[in-house]
Amino acid sequence: MKQSFVRLVPLFLVVLCIFVSVISAQNQAYEHLVRDGKQKPIGHRPVLDDAWGSKPRNDGGQSASAVQEATAILRRIRPSTNRLSRFSKPTGVFGTTAYYAKELFFLLFMNGPPQQDLVTSKPQTRKLSPPLSQAVKLLEDAAAEKNPDAIFMLAEMNFYGNFTHPRNYSEAFRRYHELATLNGNSSAQSMIGFMYATGVGGAVKQDQAKAMLYHTLAAEAGDIRSEMTIAYRHHTGIATPRNCEEAVFYYKKVADKAIAYMRSGPPGGYSMVKDSYRIADDEGGVYGEGASVSSAGPNAKQGGPNSDVHASFDDVLEYLDLMARKGDPKATYNLAKLHYDGSRAFKRDLVSAKKRFLELARMYWTRDGKTKSDVPHGTEKLASKAAGYLGRMFLRGEGMEQSFSIAQTWFKRGIANGDALSQYSMGLMYLHGFGVTKDPVKAADYFAPAADQDLAVAQVRLGALFLDQGDVPTAMRYFDLAARNGHIEAFYYLAELSNQGVGRDKSCGIAAAYYKIVAEKAEIILSSFQEANEAYENGDLETALIDYMMAAEQGFEIGQANVAYLLDQVKPRFTLSSFIPFMKQKLSLVGDAALALIYWTRSAKQSNIDSMVKMGDYYLEGLGTAPDKEKAAACYLAAAETLQSAQAMWNLGWMHENGIGIEQDFHLAKRFYDQALETNPREAYLPVLLSLYKLRLRSWWNTVTNGRVNSIQDDPPPKKDWSFAEWIHAFLEADAAAWENMEVDDYDGTHTGHDGHMPGGDDDYYEDIDSDILESLIILSLTAALAFLVYYRAQRQRRAEQQRQQGQAQGQEGQQQQGQQEDRGMFPQANDPEFLNWQAGGVGH
Ligand SMILES: *[C@@H]1O[C@H](CO)[C@@H](O)[C@H](O)[C@H]1NC(C)=O
Ligand SMILES: *[C@@H]1O[C@H](CO)[C@@H](O)[C@H](O)[C@H]1NC(C)=O
Ligand SMILES: *[C@@H]1O[C@H](CO)[C@@H](O)[C@H](O)[C@H]1NC(C)=O
Repeated sequence: MKQSFVRLVPLFLVVLCIFVSVISAQNQAYEHLVRDGKQKPIGHRPVLDDAWGSKPRNDGGQSASAVQEATAILRRIRPSTNRLSRFSKPTGVFGTTAYYAKELFFLLFMNGPPQQDLVTSKPQTRKLSPPLSQAVKLLEDAAAEKNPDAIFMLAEMNFYGNFTHPRNYSEAFRRYHELATLNGNSSAQSMIGFMYATGVGGAVKQDQAKAMLYHTLAAEAGDIRSEMTIAYRHHTGIATPRNCEEAVFYYKKVADKAIAYMRSGPPGGYSMVKDSYRIADDEGGVYGEGASVSSAGPNAKQGGPNSDVHASFDDVLEYLDLMARKGDPKATYNLAKLHYDGSRAFKRDLVSAKKRFLELARMYWTRDGKTKSDVPHGTEKLASKAAGYLGRMFLRGEGMEQSFSIAQTWFKRGIANGDALSQYSMGLMYLHGFGVTKDPVKAADYFAPAADQDLAVAQVRLGALFLDQGDVPTAMRYFDLAARNGHIEAFYYLAELSNQGVGRDKSCGIAAAYYKIVAEKAEIILSSFQEANEAYENGDLETALIDYMMAAEQGFEIGQANVAYLLDQVKPRFTLSSFIPFMKQKLSLVGDAALALIYWTRSAKQSNIDSMVKMGDYYLEGLGTAPDKEKAAACYLAAAETLQSAQAMWNLGWMHENGIGIEQDFHLAKRFYDQALETNPREAYLPVLLSLYKLRLRSWWNTVTNGRVNSIQDDPPPKKDWSFAEWIHAFLEADAAAWENMEVDDYDGTHTGHDGHMPGGDDDYYEDIDSDILESLIILSLTAALAFLVYYRAQRQRRAEQQRQQGQAQGQEGQQQQGQQEDRGMFPQANDPEFLNWQAGGVGH
């Protein structure tokens, strides 16, 4: 029997093959149909769904059908695959080699004419593909008959480059303008406002007054993006005097819509997903890992499930999965929660989440709800959390059919073990009468213990119930607690109370700040972060820039930082082209640098410290503005005063050392260098150490040669004509002091640093350990050699001096000359183009 079965296997396989191929062919055909029929456009903006002409319009029947026909054609056009999509980040030796090999290849063979600058680029003429030009023709004819949908679509295609249509910002502007004058369409007005505000693509000259006008018109007609923009402009005083009342007026409109959207979700409301992130943070911040505030000191990445410092996300997942399969409740819980919440690196997966939560719950409860005895310690708590989530998923119908009764079962189990989420959710069921009779009092009884466990949603609901009862102080207390946990509704209630002066003094400033938080938490309904991120990840920098710029105009600090980062041409990044002499670095147009400076400034104003330091760099270098060393120093000082930016402190030290923008003062310079080291011991260690060596040498020369600058030693000896004997004495003393100091501060520092903070010395960095230690050893020995040479030369000169029995004046001259020479060797000067590379690259390395 077995024999015959084996003989049948090939036959079976053949049949299977035929079956599969037939089925898949059918599937493909079907997919094709579906794609033709109702593929959704890329990106999502609910407003635009009408533009797809799903319902025929009665006005201008012919042009409407032309638009429909055009849309049908356009839907079939696939977006082209991205040119030069970003190579994945290199890891390891082979990865790095391959990365540079690829870059070299593209550099040498695939290098087209230099890419125009992003913002001011002139559109290139490109031949349209036949179906596209057919569709455009149809749309243009319809547009000539004043069909608004056709005009709008043409405008969008020219602006965003949808359906592989080449961008032409002038044409886009013309179309938007046509539509805005035709029927006052607020979406078009908003776009015109944006184009006037940024002068993007060189379509129109930047004109803030007109930008205000169009944005205000659009905002009056209820365009949420323009409302946000106008609110921000009034809030910070861009192109209009600061006006808190106006800011509150518009922010409140946005906030109202945000809350309405949130409440329109399933029980408990939509969760407001955060899409925005600083793209610079992927590289450790604008100054690189460790040198930027966003990745140094307390913000340094610590190992965690969402961190990719030590392991890739996949490795973490794999590890968790392994542990979960071994029955580790904690790993199961973490995994389930990762699946449930999702993240930027990881798509939400409700089915897997449910599976994991169920697994966890089964560790504690039997199928019929009895609790198991002799479970390991801690399982009970995690299992009840899982019960809370399972109930929530049934309550909201996430990844399964909505079922109030099953939800209630799970909540009851969770509540038996005091799970906060279960308590809150049960309260929610009573509050709204989901599957039970409505009973606010009972709801409050459930909310209270959850609120006591610091569950923000419960605190908000409880606060709202107290507010209904007229107990404002108690309500405020709960809102404050929930706001501390960043809950959007808590900020909304607090804003409303501040705005109306209920429970506390009426305060426009506080109301505006809170409304702004609410509005910005609703980024999903009003910002283009999602599209921007997607474009950026696909290497489509132009789209990313435009989309981030929209968010930046709406006042999102992250958008502003991202735009500035993208425009920033002076990033101290070592790309291959910076090593090849004949490949000239792309020079930035003045306009781009000026625009970048604007966004750095706006971002700095919203207390982004790295942006503030960046601003200083722009003033120092004269990028996009006239060089202004004092302003640069002021920026650095402001950033340094937050006591977070080692980079700013280091820059200040350097400015004091060289007397740039501020008074030359070695003593203060040392103070700032020391502060930089204190602020960021691990990353600033090496640059600060080197700077201190150099500073000490200079200070020493200054003392020796009786210079005018305030030396590190507090009181410089009075200036007078010294005798040779005195000079020798001073020389020897300063010499001894300098070396002594080095031993006390720096030499010891080397050792403590080695144990704790030396880059590469840390356990976490085992991968970099060799190269880092080698690097620092080389630098240290070079420094030592340099110091020795200087010392040796001085000694020899002194001996020669003595031998020749010459006067002191000549001797001093010799020393001074030498001092100047030595100054130049190791560090580039401020006006040297190398300087910025060195300065910024040095810290982050
Ligand atoms: C603007 O016009 C387009 C095209 O007709 C339409 O889809 C969109 O809904 C309009 N916007 C508003 C706010 O009316
Ligand atoms: C064009 O693309 C942009 C950005 O991706 C998108 O927001 C817009 O809805 C698209 N417009 C149309 C008509 O598809
Ligand atoms: C872009 O549009 C403008 C105005 O509609 C037109 O004059 C210009 O020729 C267009 N540019 C290209 C490259 O098609």
